[in-house]
Amino acid sequence: MSDELFKKVVSHAKEYGFVFPSSEIYDGLGAVYDYGQNGAELKNNLRQYWWKAMVQMHENVVGIDAAIFMHPKTWKASGHIDGFSDPMIDNKDSKKRYRADNLLEDKIARYQKDGKTNKAEELQVALDQALLDNNLVQLKSLIELHEIACPISGTRNWTDVRQFNLMFSTEMGAMAEDADKIYLRPETAQGIFVNFLNVQKTGRMKIPFGIAQTGKAFRNEIIARQFIMRMREFEQMEMQFFIRPGTQKEWYEHWKTARMKWHHKLGFGENMYRFHNHVKLAHYADAAVDIEFNFPFGFKEMEGIHSRTDFDLRNHQEYSGKKIQYFDAELDENGKAYGNYIPYVIETSIGLDRLFLATLCACYREEEIGTENNKDSRVVLNLPPILAPYKVAILPLMKKDGLPDVAREIMQELKLEYNCFYEEKDAIGKRYRRQDAIGTPYCITIDHQTLEDKTVTIRYRDTMQQERIAISRLKEILASEISWARLLA
Ligand code: GAP
Repeated sequence: MSDELFKKVVSHAKEYGFVFPSSEIYDGLGAVYDYGQNGAELKNNLRQYWWKAMVQMHENVVGIDAAIFMHPKTWKASGHIDGFSDPMIDNKDSKKRYRADNLLEDKIARYQKDGKTNKAEELQVALDQALLDNNLVQLKSLIELHEIACPISGTRNWTDVRQFNLMFSTEMGAMAEDADKIYLRPETAQGIFVNFLNVQKTGRMKIPFGIAQTGKAFRNEIIARQFIMRMREFEQMEMQFFIRPGTQKEWYEHWKTARMKWHHKLGFGENMYRFHNHVKLAHYADAAVDIEFNFPFGFKEMEGIHSRTDFDLRNHQEYSGKKIQYFDAELDENGKAYGNYIPYVIETSIGLDRLFLATLCACYREEEIGTENNKDSRVVLNLPPILAPYKVAILPLMKKDGLPDVAREIMQELKLEYNCFYEEKDAIGKRYRRQDAIGTPYCITIDHQTLEDKTVTIRYRDTMQQERIAISRLKEILASEISWARLLA
């Protein structure tokens, strides 16, 4: 998929009410976006797909909804205050700030584009090593050595590379002098860790078990790029799976396989995904892999699977002074109870906005239709039916002769089960095109024959084929086509 197609997807998202720049009437806010009427529905359905697959389908996984604001000590314990930063560099002439590793990655991409494969590989190895060692001086010298100039000023007049913390802070309390600095959570995971004992005890959960949650996270990303790919306010869907120490390799492999299968079920093509092992591990992980999706701008991270050891629970135990342990009464091979321990954790963490973007990119089609003498084209989103913002469009052919009354009756019945769209304006062909563009899988047309024999036409989005069916069969046909089981089974 090309850059050109990506631009089309972005403008389609705006034109059809999927995604708008935030506070657009004030010229927008950098890297913050709003979801429109169709976007909110699609996003909600994607979230449900994740929740159903992770919580409903697993007896040993439960879901919570923790607050965005957390005690400030949380972020000391998690390592985010000291370690959650990006290496930044400023150009002294343009006064623009860049992520040093992004500048180098762009250079690698340019080397590759120009066929300088050896140079690209050499720089990649050096970059990985500098990131692994957290060596800011080395990052700066790589920028100098490879003669990277500021894209704005064109000069190579750089500051030193410095670490820049990505957390947003604010104050809690009405009086400024009483104010306590608190942070907007940069990941949802910590809300799960601090609730480990609450959930384990009240749910009588036995290890291995998982706690899942979806919700907003905030990061002051310096370089916001590629639409909703990297945002300052975004949504994560995370699951922490608590396990016996020593079993982390086995569970890490288990969740890698399970999560890749979940992606494949969407039907966007297995070749659109790949694993990418981390060289530089986050401060909490002993193994980490990304599931990358082939976005129009190349393979990029969509989900992370991390073996987080007991880092988080152990640190929360230390910083809170509360014992966070699990008593495992099961017997080991020597017949002894495993006893008390701090569980290890495997985390799966996916960005809902990236999943949304991947879905739009994978489902966007431009098609030539019509006949030799009557050429036409359409844009269609061929979303899995269960994910579509509207499942059914109900379209009386004309605004008269009682057709809208029958259509409304059908709408009344179907909207109890499905999100339905009602429209009586414009020629039917135009109405079909608008439904294709937002991915509505089924259009039901009510015409004069409906009044005579209680039949309607059902039109299928992907094939554009039409079928005459009895109104009494509508529910049965839709139920067989629109089902979570297709994704979950
Ligand atoms: N709890 C682990 C964690 O937060 P991460 O790799 O930093 O790990 C997980 O983030 C996922 O969140 C990423 O794979 C990505 O899909 C999404 N994500 C991270 N930063 C994002 C941003 N600025 N905008 C949109 N999505 C983001």
